[in-house]
Amino acid sequence: MYSKIIVPVDGSESAWRALENAKAIGEKFSSELIVVNVVQPYNNAALLAVPLDHSTIAQGNSDLERIGDKVLEMAKERLQGYPYPLEFCLETGHPSERIIALSKKLGADAIILGSRGLSGIAEFFLGSVSSKVSQYAEVPVLIVK
Ligand SMILES: Nc1ncnc2c1ncn2[C@@H]1O[C@H](COP(=O)(O)OP(=O)(O)O)[C@@H](O)[C@H]1O
Ligand SMILES: [Mg+2]
Repeated sequence: MYSKIIVPVDGSESAWRALENAKAIGEKFSSELIVVNVVQPYNNAALLAVPLDHSTIAQGNSDLERIGDKVLEMAKERLQGYPYPLEFCLETGHPSERIIALSKKLGADAIILGSRGLSGIAEFFLGSVSSKVSQYAEVPVLIVK
């Protein structure tokens, strides 16, 4: 039980609280933690909507990947001394879809994430990633408030 836990992080305070919870639960269950950040790239639709050239889009995407790498690096620092296996994944695409696909692919048996993220729109109870993951995942989901 809880041998492989997916922990999606976006750099928000809420995600760091989720990581703290995952760390504490993982220590009790000897769990492998898989920390994932999903980069949402600009695509050709942006090119249709705004007259940007391909190199501008490519630059934007590589900046987003650098931010994603940095978020994973910060997670690694916060997990220093964690006694069980750790994995860090940078995924590309639609966040909730990628998180659920990764949890299936790796045979994870739980997902622990924050209730709010970087957009942090105050009037919503849950963010779109947390609500979609809780709705569509096939494994237990812990949403840390
Ligand atoms: N791009 C992402 N990659 C990985 N995890 C994410 C990403 N976006 C959100 N999350 C996870 O989902 C939680 C809730 O964020 P989200 O639903 O996006 O709320 P908000 O709408 O406030 O941004 C975050 O705390 C984080 O754990
Ligand atoms: Mg968000």
